[in-house]
Amino acid sequence: MRRLDQLLANLGYCSRREARDWVRSGAVTVGGVEADDFGARVNEADVRVDGEPLDHPDGLLLLVNKPLGLVCSHEAREGPNVYSLLPERWRRRNPQVTSVGRLDKDTSGLILLTDLLPLVHRLTSPKHKVPKVYRATVDRDLSPELVPRFASGELRLEDEAEACLPAELTILSAREAELTLTEGRYHQVRRMFAACGSTVLTLHRARFGELEIGEVAPGTWRELPLDFFGAVAR
Ligand code: URA
Repeated sequence: MRRLDQLLANLGYCSRREARDWVRSGAVTVGGVEADDFGARVNEADVRVDGEPLDHPDGLLLLVNKPLGLVCSHEAREGPNVYSLLPERWRRRNPQVTSVGRLDKDTSGLILLTDLLPLVHRLTSPKHKVPKVYRATVDRDLSPELVPRFASGELRLEDEAEACLPAELTILSAREAELTLTEGRYHQVRRMFAACGSTVLTLHRARFGELEIGEVAPGTWRELPLDFFGAVAR
């Protein structure tokens, strides 16, 4: 049960003050009856706004195909962000819709967005080791020696004391490879190749755990069931 004005504001419909006006104007019903108390504690499933059920009252979990050129940060000064792809109401939700980990501005592909913050913590926690699969093209021919180097658990990134966890590299063609990581350090793929003398030219994430980007076109998403990764508290 949540307070009606707070519920509408948190789901991004309007400000709390506007919610009070909406309730007064008769646009909101609870259990089929016009609401007259914006402070009433209500069950989300009973609420209608202009006759419509509430928009994802229990949370959002989206598999997005991030195009190049968008950041995963909410900071306006960092430039256009992945949240700009979403409907405005979703961008106003509280808790805020945020990414599960990050992809660089120059990386495309699979990113999860959600307002289920405990899920973000769970999936980004180092102890969960979710495998993430990247496709990279690089500026020089790939040596087969990279495969055992990446798998060794001894590859060190510049300015980092801890070696990277073992990672699986599959060479697909002279300058193209697939890399599976189970951790998510800053710019990790680019820095792993850099540590071996190569520059990554293009980078795309194709998989996150069991999820594949599949038919999701760049700039669009598909919704996942909120319990896709198991039960999660809000
Ligand atoms: N590694 C990178 O270098 N960039 C990403 O966006 C993700 C992993």
